[in-house]
Amino acid sequence: MKNISLPIAVAISLLVAACSSPQSGVPVYLDPARPVEVRVQDALKRLSTEEKVALTHAQSKFSSAGVPRLGIPEVWCTDGPHGIRPEVLWDDWDQAGWTNDSCTAFPALSCLAATWDRDMGLLFGRCIGAEARYRRKDVLLGPGVNICRTPLNGRNFEYMGEDPFLASSMVVPYVKGVQENGVAACVKHFAVNNQEIRRTATNSVVADRPLYEIYLPAFRAAVVQGGAWAIMGSYNLYNGEFNCHNKHLLCDILKGEWGFDGVVISDWGGCRDDDQAITNGLDMEFGTWTNGLRGAPSDSYNNYHLARPYLERLRSGRIGTEELDDKASRILRLIFRTSMSPEKHYGSFNSPEHYQAARTIAAAGTVLLKNEGNVLPLNVPEGGKLLVVGENAVKKMVVGGGSSNLKTKYEINPLEALQEALPGVTIEWERGYVGDTSTSYNKVDTGQDLSESRSAQQLLADALSAAQGADAVIFIGGLNKSAGQDNEGTDRSSLELPYGQGELIEALAEAVPNLIVVNISGSPVSMPWAGKVKGIVQGWYGGSESGRALADVLTGAVNPSGRLPFTLPVSFDDGPLKTERQYPGIQVEGEKWWQEYYDEGVFVGYRWYATQGIPVQFPFGHGLSYTSFDYSGARLSKGTLKCSGSYTVDSPSLDEGVLTVTVNVANTGALDGNEVVQLYVQAPEGGVERPVRELRGFEKLFVEAGKSGKASITLPLQSFTRFDEASHKWVVDPGEWTILLGSSSEDIRAAQKLNIK
Ligand code: BGC
Repeated sequence: MKNISLPIAVAISLLVAACSSPQSGVPVYLDPARPVEVRVQDALKRLSTEEKVALTHAQSKFSSAGVPRLGIPEVWCTDGPHGIRPEVLWDDWDQAGWTNDSCTAFPALSCLAATWDRDMGLLFGRCIGAEARYRRKDVLLGPGVNICRTPLNGRNFEYMGEDPFLASSMVVPYVKGVQENGVAACVKHFAVNNQEIRRTATNSVVADRPLYEIYLPAFRAAVVQGGAWAIMGSYNLYNGEFNCHNKHLLCDILKGEWGFDGVVISDWGGCRDDDQAITNGLDMEFGTWTNGLRGAPSDSYNNYHLARPYLERLRSGRIGTEELDDKASRILRLIFRTSMSPEKHYGSFNSPEHYQAARTIAAAGTVLLKNEGNVLPLNVPEGGKLLVVGENAVKKMVVGGGSSNLKTKYEINPLEALQEALPGVTIEWERGYVGDTSTSYNKVDTGQDLSESRSAQQLLADALSAAQGADAVIFIGGLNKSAGQDNEGTDRSSLELPYGQGELIEALAEAVPNLIVVNISGSPVSMPWAGKVKGIVQGWYGGSESGRALADVLTGAVNPSGRLPFTLPVSFDDGPLKTERQYPGIQVEGEKWWQEYYDEGVFVGYRWYATQGIPVQFPFGHGLSYTSFDYSGARLSKGTLKCSGSYTVDSPSLDEGVLTVTVNVANTGALDGNEVVQLYVQAPEGGVERPVRELRGFEKLFVEAGKSGKASITLPLQSFTRFDEASHKWVVDPGEWTILLGSSSEDIRAAQKLNIK
């Protein structure tokens, strides 16, 4: 202090005091004891405009800059949603070739949804969050909650089915579990992004009612109940504006109505306009390509919409700093919630617990669709022979599918797992058909050799001849993750099984009276052969432990309890998408982009089939067990619901008051098992057209053999609302409502009436 005059010294110490924590002397933004908002405000005022802008755009494929001068770290993202993506090169999709980045591959989200078990959502989130944290990732690019509007959507496997209540129920614990690890869940792809065909050039034309009732609820639940810290804008357009900077979706609904305080991240390359990127609610731009960027030899990230063009506008005064401060605050909040969180998280990677969780979830999601004559669980005598037919019995499927492609430490396929589970049985395998022989994606290779020289006829003949003398025959086929199957960037062209599997199953069924079919897919397939086979199982992309989880169910080590998260229709034509304008969209004169009209409104999935009375192959919510359950004594509690007619979209009173519905469930079989009690509501007749039933509650209940349990499902007022477009409010229609309790959307076991005045 010798050379400083007294007043200046006082001013300096006052400044230091203002910027430092009183106890530790560290700057406020670095003080973990300070509330996040205080740290954000303190950091914000220390940043230059250039530093703020640098926060808002990528510096590599998956990272954005921090503020090195201030010790604020970079933000690292990773796909998502069912495992931690291998490290990729700085500016390339190919994996970087690290040897320490093979992760635990968890099941695809369609499988998670099929568990109908919130505890599984939490377990999944906790485990994948821990893997992300261990790998030093701050943002997990998942989960995905776009509704299965068409069974042909190539990304159905990354989503949680066709029902907004089911998807909402499953996404909330997933998000919480991830974020417990100090990792942000980035819920994607917001919004009305329900197909892959022309995903970057299609405008979804959706009325407000289906938007609010079908397509937004799972996002809202993730944000409002799950407290998600990040959300990803989708590639498509809605009401003529690209969704990564869609003012109505991002500013009015997400940040306005729902009060989202997190970060909006663009899908990779989804940002398309300099000005809208600044003003319409986007916070961080990541990408693959940007206008003028293609082929840029170096420093391409500087050309991102939120990079140089943004700085130029700020410097010239064409735009003010209000948006920039908001974006930077949100990004700082994200950083203080994750890498600079006061709670130090270390995560864990490839632990036995994670592999066990992957197996438990995959088995819990496996759905027993048909079990005529109790052909399952397998009953092959010691020394007997089991024939397994089909490519999916051996094909490793963790690799492929697009951005969810993973490199895993190991993947047990169904054939290996059956051999492990049934050591005293001779298990033979016949391929039966040739599907996808590719084994690598982004330079991750399974190392399998799937080449085949036999003709289709020969493959069939070999399978039929191997079936002779077998004690049991299982066909394991379905889809895979190659282009045109369950794959990002493409949709399927048909609901039928590809590669001639339908004919193969029919031929096998002729020769094998007790044929069992396992369909592995992430989307609905049609099953015209269903009546000709005795057993059908819906399996999923189960991740590292896929095969073991399936074998657990086939052998009876696990009593199946999965339920369909979407309808399996008889044919595509039975569904609600009747015209090209509905799917996959049409070109309209005067419009630059393809237009896709959601003319079916709220009649999506079972809402369509049930209301129209169209028979389906297997209904939404269906799934059998190796035991049986009886329902009795359904009761509606005398609760109160505060209901004054209508509610604004963000009214907290919407969640006030609950009714409770209880029902006794008796396990009448010889095995312990889980029943999924499902609650649907049916609105009074007359008035606005509504689906004949809508899922509003469920409980997965474990009941020991011979014992009874009680399911108890609460119904908040929200269960009875519909969205009224004219008033932009949720309304409750008075009259006689029916509460339906059932084991699927078609298997209703009990009904209760309820009068709403
Ligand atoms: C996908 C996103 C993914 C991103 C980064 C995009 O193509 O749509 O789901 O998170 O790439 O890999």
